[in-house]
Amino acid sequence: MKGIIMAGGSGSRLKPLTGVLSKQLLPVYNKPMIYYPLSVLMLAGIRDILLISSPHHLHLFRALLGDGSRLGLRLDYAEQEHPGGIAEAFLIGADHIGDDAVTLVLGDNLFHGPGFSAMLRDRAGRLDGCTIFGYPVRDPQRYGVAEVDDAGRLVSIEEKPRRPRSDLAVTGLYMYDNDVVGIARGLTPSARGELEITDINQVYMDRGRAELLRLGRGFVWLDTGTHDALLEAGQYVQILEQRQSVRIACVEEIAYRMGFIGTGQLLRLGREHADTDYGTYLVDLAERATDGRRVPDVPPPDLVADPTGLPSLAAPAPGS
Ligand code: DAU
Repeated sequence: MKGIIMAGGSGSRLKPLTGVLSKQLLPVYNKPMIYYPLSVLMLAGIRDILLISSPHHLHLFRALLGDGSRLGLRLDYAEQEHPGGIAEAFLIGADHIGDDAVTLVLGDNLFHGPGFSAMLRDRAGRLDGCTIFGYPVRDPQRYGVAEVDDAGRLVSIEEKPRRPRSDLAVTGLYMYDNDVVGIARGLTPSARGELEITDINQVYMDRGRAELLRLGRGFVWLDTGTHDALLEAGQYVQILEQRQSVRIACVEEIAYRMGFIGTGQLLRLGREHADTDYGTYLVDLAERATDGRRVPDVPPPDLVADPTGLPSLAAPAPGS
């Protein structure tokens, strides 16, 4: 399974914040927005990722994340010359996808919930056609809206309908088999001149190969499309991190827990952020994993799945 993050667009609704900055690099509390969707792909077990952004912002993402090897990832970058629609991801990313399936995440979506990693890995493992993720909201007309019948089957999807047929918004996370590239090649631009992701989902639905997974109560999906939404997302992360002393979308920790990097690399990354809470958190994590002993530069031993679905810190092997 390959991954794509769509991080272009004009950011017009967030001006003047986005006057010179990319929307997806704006802070959400203590980290750049892009960490949140990146962490979603990592939690799904995806390590080969293409980041797509506009020509004038792409170099900033590259400067921040590099080739991904520090996180045990392979990151590539591609330009989207104009915001021609989210579905352009599969035309720009066709070579990256190759013969694989692909998960697309929008660079401005924030997900958080129990068992998320396990759920994503499970879905990725038995994908048949496409899987989209629905979330009940108060204002569905701002999003793609899905309608399901009593048996839970997907009946319709509409992009920003004036009269929504349900309260189920289609979130910015999509899993597709390899047919998606051919489907994207056959799309024509919508009335607003964009290749619509909703049209791709419609094709899968017409073929009877679209599944909608409902993210229920206890799950959080936030978008960051307005100034208020951006501030609220930051406050949500702040409250949870301070209350529970855990980190949301801490890509270094996720890389470690997923087994992409070892304890030595985790410690090195933590020391790079020395003198910040963020760095201290990573160093503590590495030291706890090794029980304060010398940190070996090898991947951690067994990763044990905890109830949240995120592999927990493995206990140090006796005598290691
Ligand atoms: O957030 C979920 C919603 O995202 C879905 O419910 C909708 O079905 C889907 O169309 C999309 O709606 P938005 O109105 O939020 O799309 P927006 O144009 O704001 O773009 C979402 C993200 O994708 C944003 O980070 C910018 C990026 N993007 C967008 C376009 C149109 C690109 O990178 N390139 C593009 O051409």
